[in-house]
Amino acid sequence: MSKQKQCSSDKELIIETTDVVYFYDNQIKALNGINIKVFKNEIVGIMGRNGGGKTTLAKHFNGILKPCSGDVFVYGKNTKNGDVREFTGKVGYVFQNPDHQFFRVTVLKEMEAGPDNFGLSNKQKKENIEKAVVLLDLSDLLQKHPMELDYAAKKKVSYASILAFAPRVIILDEPTAGLYEADRKLFSNSINKLSEAGNTVIIISNDIDFIVENAKRVVLISDGSVAGDGSTTGVLRDIPLLKRAGIVPPQISRLDMRLFGNNKTALSVKDFADKFSNIYNKV
Ligand SMILES: Nc1ncnc2c1ncn2[C@@H]1O[C@H](COP(=O)(O)OP(=O)(O)OP(=O)(O)O)[C@@H](O)[C@H]1O
Ligand SMILES: [Mg+2]
Repeated sequence: MSKQKQCSSDKELIIETTDVVYFYDNQIKALNGINIKVFKNEIVGIMGRNGGGKTTLAKHFNGILKPCSGDVFVYGKNTKNGDVREFTGKVGYVFQNPDHQFFRVTVLKEMEAGPDNFGLSNKQKKENIEKAVVLLDLSDLLQKHPMELDYAAKKKVSYASILAFAPRVIILDEPTAGLYEADRKLFSNSINKLSEAGNTVIIISNDIDFIVENAKRVVLISDGSVAGDGSTTGVLRDIPLLKRAGIVPPQISRLDMRLFGNNKTALSVKDFADKFSNIYNKV
C-alpha cells in the first residue's frame, strides 16, 4: 500500500484498488484487474455501459464485496482485514435500488438506523437527521412507511439515511434515475454541500448532464476494466473513447460537433450558448 500522503501532492489517499478481480459465483467475471485511487474531497463520476462492473466496483469501496484477487485499501486499511462495519461507517453507499436499503417501518426510523448502528450520540444523530431532512426536503414524509413512497421519494430517503450517520465518503449509485428536475437540483446541491464540508463523493451515473454539473473527474468502466480516467471535460470530449466505453455523447455535444467541428466540444447547453455567442459576436 502506498503512503496515505502522496509525495507529489498534498492529496490524501482515501480509497485504492490494486489489480482487483472479482467473479460472481466463481464464474461471472465482473472485474478484470482494476487500479484506481480516490483522493480526499474529490467528486468522481463513474460511467460506463450497463453490466460493465460499476456497481460491483463500488461495492468494493466499502468492503461489501471483497476482491477474489488484488486488494482494496480504505483509509490505508485492507478491506480483507477487519470488520465490514469499519468500512461501511466511513464509506456510505446509497444503493442503486432504494428498496434494497429499507428495513424499518417509518422514514424517521430508517434514518435513525445508521446512527444507531454506528454508535453516534443522540445529539449527533438528531443534528445529522435534521440536516438531511432539510437538505432533501423530507419533513412531510418522516412518519410514512418507506415502501409506500413513490420512487423519487424512496431515492431521497435512501440517500438521507446514509447522510444521517455522516460517512466521510458517499457513494451514490445511479442517483438521478427516476428523479424530476427539482429533486435533481436537491441532489446536486447536497453534493456541493458535502464537498464544501471536505467529504469525498463518488457518483455512478450515465446521466452526462448530472456528471458534468457535479463531477470534476470521470472514470470509465468497460467490461470490468478502466477504459478512461481523467478530468470530466477531458474524458467526455474524447468521443472515440466514449464510444468504446458505450457512452453516447450528449445531444448538445453532437450538435456542437456538427456545427463547429471537434474543438473544445460543448458539454452543456450553457457551454454551447457561450461558444455560439462568442463566434456570433466575432462575425
Ligand atoms: N449478484 C450478482 N450475481 C451474479 N452476477 C452479477 C450480480 N451482480 C452483477 N452481476 C454481473 O456482473 C457484471 C457487472 O455487473 P454490475 O452490476 O457491477 O454492472 P453495472 O455497470 O453496475 O451495470 P448497470 O449499469 O446495469 O447498473 C454483469 O455481468 C452482471 O450481470
Ligand atoms: Mg450498477
